[in-house]
Amino acid sequence: MCGIVGYVGRKQAAPVLIDGLYRLEYRGYDSVGIAVMDGKQIEIVRKVGRVKEIEPARGTFGCIGIGHTRWATHGGVTEQNAHPHRHKNIVLVHNGIVENAFSLREECSAKGESFCSETDSEVIAHLIADAYRGDLLKAVFEACRRLVGSYALAVLCTDEPDTIVCARMKSPLIVGRAKEGLVVASDIPAVAEEGAQLYSLSDGEFCVLKGEELTFFDTTLGEIEKDAIDFDLSDDLPDRKGYHHYMRKEIDEIPKVLSLSQAKITENSCFSSFYRVLCQTEYIQIVACGTAYHSGLCAKEAIERICRIPVDVFVASEYRYCDPIIPKGTLLIAVSQSGETADTLAAVRLAKERGAYIAAVTNVTYSSLTRLARTVLYTRAGREIAVAATKSFNAQLITLYSVCCALAEIRGKTAPPVGGLAAMAESTIVTGEQVRSWTPHFVGASSAYFIGRGADRYAAMEGSLKLKEISYLPSEGYAAGELKHGTLALIEKGTPVVAVITRRDIAEKTMSAVHEAYARGASVFLVTCFEEFCRSPEIVSSVVIPECPPEYSPILSVIPLQMLAYYVSVACGHDPDKPRNLAKSVTVE
Ligand code: AGP
Repeated sequence: MCGIVGYVGRKQAAPVLIDGLYRLEYRGYDSVGIAVMDGKQIEIVRKVGRVKEIEPARGTFGCIGIGHTRWATHGGVTEQNAHPHRHKNIVLVHNGIVENAFSLREECSAKGESFCSETDSEVIAHLIADAYRGDLLKAVFEACRRLVGSYALAVLCTDEPDTIVCARMKSPLIVGRAKEGLVVASDIPAVAEEGAQLYSLSDGEFCVLKGEELTFFDTTLGEIEKDAIDFDLSDDLPDRKGYHHYMRKEIDEIPKVLSLSQAKITENSCFSSFYRVLCQTEYIQIVACGTAYHSGLCAKEAIERICRIPVDVFVASEYRYCDPIIPKGTLLIAVSQSGETADTLAAVRLAKERGAYIAAVTNVTYSSLTRLARTVLYTRAGREIAVAATKSFNAQLITLYSVCCALAEIRGKTAPPVGGLAAMAESTIVTGEQVRSWTPHFVGASSAYFIGRGADRYAAMEGSLKLKEISYLPSEGYAAGELKHGTLALIEKGTPVVAVITRRDIAEKTMSAVHEAYARGASVFLVTCFEEFCRSPEIVSSVVIPECPPEYSPILSVIPLQMLAYYVSVACGHDPDKPRNLAKSVTVE
């Protein structure tokens, strides 16, 4: 987590760093800082809070500098813990986790060195300063050999006033040539501009940005050449396009994302060789976190019901610790919007070691996940800025449903076509606006419940995650039939309960749970394809969505739930794009 940025060139560095940090704020936003060197001295400005807190530092003089926006791991949210960190002539920013920080700190302390922060990152500055013998690259290299864990580093040294040294291990790092200087950042948007040449570092690689030269080094400090990566400026430069928040804009993009993703999936050059893998597939494991985990659950429902192929879905953070059984021929699909989620990557590494075929469903072309996978199925959601995932979930679903269709074809089964879902999503967004009128029932409630059966329960789980994530209202997504086995005890007068009903054969069963909740005083809301249930006197308000094949229904039913979470968050006075304590990509385990 955290975003880092750096610049050396002809322009003043501070404005470049601050503008870059705004574009990385989605990665963490509890504290922020920059360090700018004027040829001799390094001035460091750090603040608790968002990037705007360092706006007054825009005028800091100097053409070389580094910056950081933080999501706290080691140490609280304080100015001392904010980056950049300094020790002697070394100043650095770090994204990642140093797992052996404690023992390294003890070692430094034993030598009489003292620390100014509680972070794991500060120890890296000590290691580099201790190793410095007039060559910053070598000192960074020596220090990195001591580190266990993950890092993306940008390092300044007062003795080398025109140089930034960068290093990467398991945390993303982009470097490049821009029009008027050299740049480094955790992600493309921070440094993307017309005509820029950008490069993605691989694990163990180093890069020196010096004057006007960019030099790459491999894991043994041998000089290497790298190919520039493609990026799409229209996608990579964030723009709210008149919306108050990215989240609302991203929900409105769902129909476009669905048509694009569906059109592109089989065009993917990987797909024909992947098709051959699917021909051999008898068992699938899916690993993912959060929203992506929910899309895995939805995929399981579709693939098992339609193709009759067993699918197990794992929360990635648990996968490594359950000593997973990975039979020969297992297809493991890792789902991750960012492709950088540390838990998902760790699960993938284990499965790979144990012989699984790895396919990735991801939204980010040059992510770490794409390097680990043998097949990459890109979702075409475009850049998602809001921390709460919306359009990327729908894009993951259409991609996984397309895999389901391919599997069905191979198995001689009939899968309903996925075409048409984009148009249905369009009308769902229009009717979904009605959820705005539901917000007074949620604002101030002590908890909320989302229920459903079959695939509807996965939409319910995702709706619940969205609500708690951005409105801070305790919430649970539940199998409707489980309500009576415990959770019903929590229902009291006015407790909001949202039922999702999209499968005709089990609709009445979910309505039984609605009756039970209503009888205990719940205010029940409905998202359904079936108008007749909306007329039930027990329902406060409902949204009718188009009827699609029930195996695919979460792709539509989730939309009003995403909108509900958004409107409740706004009504509560929160920033739905930047929920407290969270960040967009979780690059720590
Ligand atoms: C969703 O709204 C969350 N912000 C979060 O659960 C997210 O889906 C999860 O961290 C996984 O991220 P990934 O898809 O980038 O791997």
